[in-house]
This record gives sequence, C-alpha cells and structure tokens, in this order.
Amino acid sequence: MKIIVDTTEAISALAAKRYVRLLRSRPNAVLGFATGSTPLGLYAELVRLCDAGEISFRDAMSFNLDEYVGLDGSHEQSYRWFMDHYLFEKIDIDRARTHVPSGLDTDSATAEAYDQAIISTGGIDLQLLGIGNNGHIGFNEPGTPFGSRTHMVELTDSTRQANRRFFKSLDEVPTHAVTMGIRTVMNARSIILMALGTAKADIIRKTVQGEVTEEVPASILQLHPSVEVYLDYQAASLL
Ligand code: F6R
Repeated sequence: MKIIVDTTEAISALAAKRYVRLLRSRPNAVLGFATGSTPLGLYAELVRLCDAGEISFRDAMSFNLDEYVGLDGSHEQSYRWFMDHYLFEKIDIDRARTHVPSGLDTDSATAEAYDQAIISTGGIDLQLLGIGNNGHIGFNEPGTPFGSRTHMVELTDSTRQANRRFFKSLDEVPTHAVTMGIRTVMNARSIILMALGTAKADIIRKTVQGEVTEEVPASILQLHPSVEVYLDYQAASLL
C-alpha cells in the first residue's frame, strides 16, 4: 500500500492527478466510482480539470460501487442522482457508458449481470473507495465474505445512522442496498482509498496496520498489489 498524506484541501487535487495520468495513458479506462462526502472534492477537481481541457472522459466507462434499494435514479438521495449531479453531467463522459447498480431490480441475476458487465469490459482499471466508520467498502459491512460479488445487503444501524444526515429522518434511510462485492472490488487493477477527517483515523489504522479480517472489510486491501491510500492529516493521525 502506498500512503499519501496531505492537507484536506490538497488531497483531492493529488488524487485527481492520478486520474489525469491514467486517462492520458488509457483514454478508454474503466473507472470505478464511489459516492458519499469523501469524493466530493475530488469530483469537483475532475470537473475543473475537464473544463480546463486537462482531462477527458470521452472514451472512458464507469461502474459505481453501490445503490440504495428502493430508490430510483431520479430520487435525490439515490447514488445515480448523486453521480449525475456531482460528476457525470459536468464532465464529457457519455452517460450511456456510466453504470450504477439498480436499486429497483434487485434479484440475484441482475447482481450477477453487473459483475459480468464489468468483466466483459476487461475489468476496472481504477476503483475509488471511501470507507465507513466500521470499515465497510462499498456497502460490504463487517462480516461480509471476502469472496463476495455484487449482491444485496442489509445496512447496519451504524451505517444508516451515519447516512441519516442526507435524509429527512432515519425512517427514510433505506434498509438495504446493492453493492459490488469485495471480490468485485479486489479484481480492479488499481484501487484508490480516500479518507478525510478525525472520525476515520481509527478505522484507517485498523485497515492499514491491523489484522486482515472480514470484521474490517477494508483490511483486505493490504493484500491487493496496487492500492494508494489518500488521507488528510486528520485521517492519518493514528498511523
Ligand atoms: C459510497 C460507499 C461507501 C462510502 C462510505 C464513506 O458509494 O460505497 O462505502 O464510501 O460510507 O462515506 P463518506 O464518504 O460519506 O464518509
């Protein structure tokens, strides 16, 4: 694992440079994207670079990690809406080449088809990950088998509480999600894990320096050959 630590302001710009390098050498790269608060600065920087003509997503393709069950893509808390709003509508990517798991069609054949679609592109070149306070990646909560592929999950209380801030009340936070599995994520050729803020410091320590265990899903990343961990000073404070 390569650990990159900088200020909260600088870390998104550093991560964005990774995309500039990748897309210059491989314009048709397959990108794995994440939602949540953490990538917002990175996405804003990618929009800026695209506007400035320094990066182009014209030939790229994308697959998102996860989606809430029960929300369709026009719902403002759906991850499809999030991606369209914060990134896809603001860069030159072809929306038809962007993929987010369906929150409505949740049977196992559809989940399997998502993995197959990724495989048929030749696989994800660069997968972006945030991390939950409990170590989840995607919505793979503690205890998820490392061999899992795209599947439906029940969200833990702590994850629903953490994401409550985006909804009017806890009752409105979906109870289930569809997520790429841990195997799906580990199949990516390279991975970026981003974490910002003191609240992530403890789980980052466990992820980077702790035991590799299904109780800390992100700890599996220690076994991946190409992972970069982008942290601000706060998230890195316990390393
Ligand atoms: C989002 C995702 C989640 C988040 C994680 C951190 O697509 O898969 O694993 O990355 O919950 O969320 P934030 O960035 O809001 O702290």
